[in-house]
Amino acid sequence: MELNACIKGRRSIRLYQDKSAPKEIVEKILNAGIWAPSGMNSQPWRFVVIENRDIINKLSKRTKEILSKMPWPTDILQKYAKSEKDTIFYDAPLLILLCVPKKEEWRQVNILDCGLAAQNMFLTAYQEGLGSCFIGFGWYLNRDPAFLADLGVPADHEVIAPMIFGYPAEDPKPKSRELRILKWIS
Ligand SMILES: Cc1cc2nc3c(=O)[nH]c(=O)nc-3n(C[C@H](O)[C@H](O)[C@H](O)COP(=O)(O)O)c2cc1C
Repeated sequence: MELNACIKGRRSIRLYQDKSAPKEIVEKILNAGIWAPSGMNSQPWRFVVIENRDIINKLSKRTKEILSKMPWPTDILQKYAKSEKDTIFYDAPLLILLCVPKKEEWRQVNILDCGLAAQNMFLTAYQEGLGSCFIGFGWYLNRDPAFLADLGVPADHEVIAPMIFGYPAEDPKPKSRELRILKWIS
C-alpha cells in the first residue's frame, strides 16, 4: 500500500469480526514494531501477545474495576467503567501489551519509543487488512502488578502501549485533522 494512503486510511477500530489473525500477520506486526527508532537504540520494548478472548475480557473487567474507583465524572464512569459492554478492549481477538523495564530516568524516552513502535504496528496491521486501536485505559492495569505478573509482565516492568487488533466490523469516518504551525522560520 502507498505510504500516504496507509497513514491516512488507518482508523481506530472498536468493533471486530469473530475471526483471529493468522500467526504470520501477527509476527509481521510485531516485527514492524521493533524496526522503530529508539533512544540510543535501547529497544526497550517487550511484548505480551494475548489471543485468548476470555483472557482479554478478564483484562477488560479488571481495568473497569480499577477505573470505577477513579474520581471521575459520573457520566464518564458510567460510559466506560460501569457499562455491560466491553468498553475497554472492545471484545477484540488480539491484545498486545507493549511493556518496558521500569526506569524512571528513561521513562520519557521509553514512552516515545513505544509510541513509535505502536504506530509502525498499526500501519502494518492496516496494510494487512486488520483494524487496531491504542487503548490508553489499559494503562490502569499497571495499578495491579500481581494481575499483570500472571500475564507475564514482571513487577519491574510497566505497560506503556496496550493495543488491540483484529479484522474490522466497522468502517468509521476519518476525524478531521488540523495542521497547527506555531511558527515557520525560513
Ligand atoms: C495515547 C492514546 C490513547 C488512546 N486511548 C484510547 C482508549 O482508551 N480507548 C479508545 O477507544 N481509544 C483510544 N485511543 C484512540 C483515539 O481515540 C483515536 O486515535 C483518535 O480518536 C483519532 O481517531 P483515529 O485513530 O481513527 O484517527 C487512544 C489513542 C491514543 C494515541
